[in-house]
Amino acid sequence: MSPVTTEHCGDIAIVTVDNPPVNALSQAVRAGLVSAVEQANAEPKIKAVILICSGRTFIAGADIREFNRPPEPPHLPDVIAAIEASTKLFIAAIHGTALGGGLEVALGCHHRIARPDASVGFPEVNLGLIPGATGTQRLPRVAGVQVALDMMVSGRPVRADKAKISGVIDEVAEEGELVDAATAYARKLIDGGVAPRRVRDLTVDPVEPGIFDDFRKKIAKKTHGLVAPEQIIRCVERSLSVPFDEAVAQERKSFLACRESEQSAALRHVFFAERSVGKVPDLKKGIQERKTETMAVIGAGTMGAGIAYSGLAAGMQVVLLDNDEAGLGRGQATIRALFEGGVARGRVTEKGMADGLARLKTTQHYPDIADVDLVIEAVFENMAIKKEVFSRLDEVVRPGAILATNTSTLDIDQIAGATRRPKDVVGLHFFSPAHVMRLIEIVRGSETSQDVVATALSFSKRLRKMGVVVGNCFGFVGNRMLYSYGRESQLLLLEGAAPEQIDAALTNFGMAMGPHAVGDLAGLDVGYKVRSERTDLPDDPRFYRIANVLSEMGRFGQKTGKGMYLYEDGSRAPVSDPEVQELINNEAKTLGIKQRSIDENEIVERCIYGLIVEGARIIEEGIVYRSSDIDLVWINGYGFPRFRGGPMFYADRLGVDKVYAKVCDFSERFSPLYWEPPKLLQELAEQGGRFSEL
Ligand code: 3HC
Ligand code: NAI
Repeated sequence: MSPVTTEHCGDIAIVTVDNPPVNALSQAVRAGLVSAVEQANAEPKIKAVILICSGRTFIAGADIREFNRPPEPPHLPDVIAAIEASTKLFIAAIHGTALGGGLEVALGCHHRIARPDASVGFPEVNLGLIPGATGTQRLPRVAGVQVALDMMVSGRPVRADKAKISGVIDEVAEEGELVDAATAYARKLIDGGVAPRRVRDLTVDPVEPGIFDDFRKKIAKKTHGLVAPEQIIRCVERSLSVPFDEAVAQERKSFLACRESEQSAALRHVFFAERSVGKVPDLKKGIQERKTETMAVIGAGTMGAGIAYSGLAAGMQVVLLDNDEAGLGRGQATIRALFEGGVARGRVTEKGMADGLARLKTTQHYPDIADVDLVIEAVFENMAIKKEVFSRLDEVVRPGAILATNTSTLDIDQIAGATRRPKDVVGLHFFSPAHVMRLIEIVRGSETSQDVVATALSFSKRLRKMGVVVGNCFGFVGNRMLYSYGRESQLLLLEGAAPEQIDAALTNFGMAMGPHAVGDLAGLDVGYKVRSERTDLPDDPRFYRIANVLSEMGRFGQKTGKGMYLYEDGSRAPVSDPEVQELINNEAKTLGIKQRSIDENEIVERCIYGLIVEGARIIEEGIVYRSSDIDLVWINGYGFPRFRGGPMFYADRLGVDKVYAKVCDFSERFSPLYWEPPKLLQELAEQGGRFSEL
């Protein structure tokens, strides 16, 4: 049966799209729409057609799954052209979200009415695309150049009231059934003798000179490295000067080029990765989750304060516990400052801040947290201290509460072993700054119960974060992989690459920051402390040599004004330090390493292939459910470029066989100690397989 059906209601035809879950414009929907237009045109008594959707939303766009195949007719621009050319009045009735191709269809209709809670937008840019079915030419015609640029380059949808003000929609429906409001609106148009208003025939309002260049400057930082935003701007520029059909042909060409691009393939991968990350294969369906209304955070330091703030911002009751009075005071002050910052940026209202702070309690006494639903421990990264805290929690906190640790590296099972309820213990590894970073690694211990994992996933969503369920191993997914990445960035120093060169190579690749700038930001002492407590590190004097020497000199990074780089008072901008270069050269000499000139390509390959190799081991050991979960951890926790799809997807696109060959080469040239290829990498290379197919 066609997903598009028509029902007649006197002189009005109601065309309904029913293609769950989001009414995407699959080939069947496109074909159904064309035949609905033909039927309406052929029916003399029909004066108006209402285009409406069943289910949770209006058309949410093209069917992204079809983008991996050659386009099949009827093509969307032709469908929209057919709707627009109809002599019957076409009215789009919008609920939920009219996105991408969905909004293009609506703009092909002659009028648009939307429910007050609906929103409309062009999110294509998030998929490395531009609106490819006349959207770039229609939006400036109804809403003007500035709104069109803002909407299409940000990708952010706008609500119905705002869309009406800017002219994207014509009417906001009153309360009640949308179909009734749309029918009443159609009646009014018919009775008023209103002719079809075709957007293609409108002209774009003239703009101030320089508007496009100013816009380019405004978005330069945010869109660095991305192809689609500039393509969108050029299309909008054309809407002012080039006839509609010619501009649409150019738009289509540009859309198809974007569709074939590596960036779009990567961003589409991320889109689907984000939708599968919450699906944990062995979790029973309909599992009863635990309550998470009240939370205690143990440790009011950097992480504890950020986590507590996130809970308060999500409407929870939070008790912050620290054994140090001064630490508790600092934590409380940080939380207040975070709220104040939110108010200053217009993200939090004064009332929101007052409510949030009223829900915060502080204490130094464990009995005060006895009744909470969830505890998140964020004390010093030290096993003995964590065990002591968990054994205390076991004594005082009510049965059934979830006991979580924010440890970034330690063994969850050992921590759980300090309690008589290991089933209730889970890792919730937030990233710093905890109120900003979207990622939470949900670390499943060997005994963590299913309902605790399910609750941890919902809790992450409640904090508007992305929970990725991972297994228990040193450093879990992110920090474990960081070791190989950091190792290479350190070895490269000894071999002759300067810190600035390494950082530039990786930011050119698209990393948000270079590894040495990140080290200075996080504090070189933090990693130093963790390494000095590890007993399983390689017996290699080169391993993290420079970071160790700098830490031993008290050069911890930004917090001491000196690390790998120098920092002027109050500035976060790294400045090269000739003393560090001299130190690196001396260390290399001491170790008998002959320094050489190293090109950008080698730097990127050594660091990124280091990640891929460790990622392959993580998959091999079953620490993740799918390779795309690793991609999300690295994109959301470590600034890996989204437009490259994450390290494992990047390996797939390079060709796993090519990566394997290079790893074998590195093993020979550098050291099998670090470059021994994992079995999985070898197998996939031999079989022509890909990580994403596992
Ligand atoms: N194509 C194919 N599948 C889609 C889809 C699309 N456009 N949009 C959503 N889906 C699927 C999801 O993969 C998911 O599938 P699953 O249940 O198997 O995991 C299911 O629909 C539900 O999606 P969400 O979990 O995201 O549901 P939400 O209710 O949270 O959000 C939404 C709904 C706001 C519509 C969100 O899905 C979304 O933003 N979708 C993408 C919209 C988009 O990017 N549209 C533009 C497409 S490109 C285009 O139109 C090009 C044109 O200009 C030519
Ligand atoms: P921090 O040093 O800023 O804060 C720790 C706080 O815990 C201090 O206020 C201290 O007084 C308190 N504390 C120590 N022992 C305690 C005890 N027995 N009972 C109650 N309070 C106690 O530490 P930070 O950086 O916030 O780290 C906390 C945890 O979060 C660690 O496990 C760390 O590995 C993890 N983590 C840290 C990240 C970071 O970037 N700082 C990122 C992700 C995780």
